[in-house]
Amino acid sequence: MKAKIENLKGLRLLNPGPLVLITSKYQGKSNIVTAAWTSPVSHSPPLISISLSTKRLSHVLIGNSKEFTVNIPSIELLDKVLLCGSESGRNVDKFKAYKLKEVKGKKVVSPSIKECFAFLECKVIDSFLCGDHYLFIGEIVHCEIEKEYYNDCIDVEKVKFINHLGGSCFTYPEKIVEKKRE
Ligand SMILES: Cc1cc2nc3c(=O)[nH]c(=O)nc-3n(C[C@H](O)[C@H](O)[C@H](O)COP(=O)(O)O)c2cc1C
Repeated sequence: MKAKIENLKGLRLLNPGPLVLITSKYQGKSNIVTAAWTSPVSHSPPLISISLSTKRLSHVLIGNSKEFTVNIPSIELLDKVLLCGSESGRNVDKFKAYKLKEVKGKKVVSPSIKECFAFLECKVIDSFLCGDHYLFIGEIVHCEIEKEYYNDCIDVEKVKFINHLGGSCFTYPEKIVEKKRE
């Protein structure tokens, strides 16, 4: 038997994509924000969306620079991921405070994070206010992943990325099931 849950809790049923660290830079200020709400949205061009509350400093930096980088951390970085999601860059330099190494962007001004095993550099092509969050649509202009963790998809048997189930619950996939379409 299925039970009714609050509409707000319904968001959690769709929550788990890779939990990411989004980096941005504007007028010399670099920042990191933890984000669970991201999604692929188009093949051609390759577009993704990120959803950031209007309260976040990152929303201001990305709104101005029109660029951002999505970094994918492994489960070993969970403590730092939570720290980046608890403090605002208005009060702390998260790169310095949490000992994350800032790497110069290749095609965008926003840096990437050395400790993350993959990153996607994006240029904002559109943005919309949706409720209390801003949806930024970014075109992927450059993308890198550690070779040993890539086998046409993330090799989750070698690296464990984080899924956020909601609240204080996290998980990770660790097995690939391959099935070709008939
Ligand atoms: C697990 C987790 C997931 C989060 N996902 C999002 C998200 O998708 N969008 C968002 O706006 N904030 C999200 N947050 C909250 C921000 O990371 C947090 O408010 C952060 O301190 C904002 O930093 P900033 O002001 O430096 O941008 C999340 C936090 C955690 C711990």
